[in-house]
Amino acid sequence: MPLTAAAKVKPPEVKTVADLALQPEEYQTAVHKIVVSHAVNELYGAQVFDEPAIKLAPTPYAKWLTCRVAMEEYHHHLRFKGLADEIGVPAQRMDPKHKRPLSIFEFELRTWPEFCVIKAIADYAEILQVEDLLHCTFHPLRNLARITMPEEKFHAKFGKDTCLELIQQGKGDAVQDAIDRYFPITPGFFGAAASKNNEIYRKWGLKQRSNEEMRQDFLARVTELVEKDFGLKLPALGA
Ligand SMILES: [Fe+2]
Ligand SMILES: [Fe+2]
Repeated sequence: MPLTAAAKVKPPEVKTVADLALQPEEYQTAVHKIVVSHAVNELYGAQVFDEPAIKLAPTPYAKWLTCRVAMEEYHHHLRFKGLADEIGVPAQRMDPKHKRPLSIFEFELRTWPEFCVIKAIADYAEILQVEDLLHCTFHPLRNLARITMPEEKFHAKFGKDTCLELIQQGKGDAVQDAIDRYFPITPGFFGAAASKNNEIYRKWGLKQRSNEEMRQDFLARVTELVEKDFGLKLPALGA
């Protein structure tokens, strides 16, 4: 369906979980997909990045902050899983063993600088995703996005601050190396340019922006972070 046609539909404002059951099947399915995706990926990210990073953190203070990040990411999973339970999504769909997590997590974390880069870049991508739900027509999901946002901002700031600290300590090469290896897998996080799912999410006012708009915003902001704030180089992306 062309986007102009999609834009003509006046999406409902769905204030409660009970009202969700009264919506068209396409709306309900779309809500389920978004909630499941967040529940799975928050859990998987906590398991493969945040929890293992506690061991890598170099000082007691860095460990304490990393524990806080890990705790919050697990909590994000629990919040989205709680909503999924309420709207009747089977628990199995939230298990990363059954639903393949996003490619952004296919990176083997080995060092502290890698973790700092992941938080600075990947959590920034997550901010954009959560931001897109702030005006979601399904209010329980909108409310979740609103309480999750300050924590995602903290994670990205934590990543930025720890990267800057490493750079000031003369470890800019390790930060650059982690950016070179991690950044190229991140644009895929926003999904295909011609995504049918995204078109349906926008049709129903569940999301506001196209995958491509979000990806371009992400690339512009990460370019500024890496080149202006860090004084490093963003690797070129392959065609
Ligand atoms: Fe999160
Ligand atoms: Fe986060």
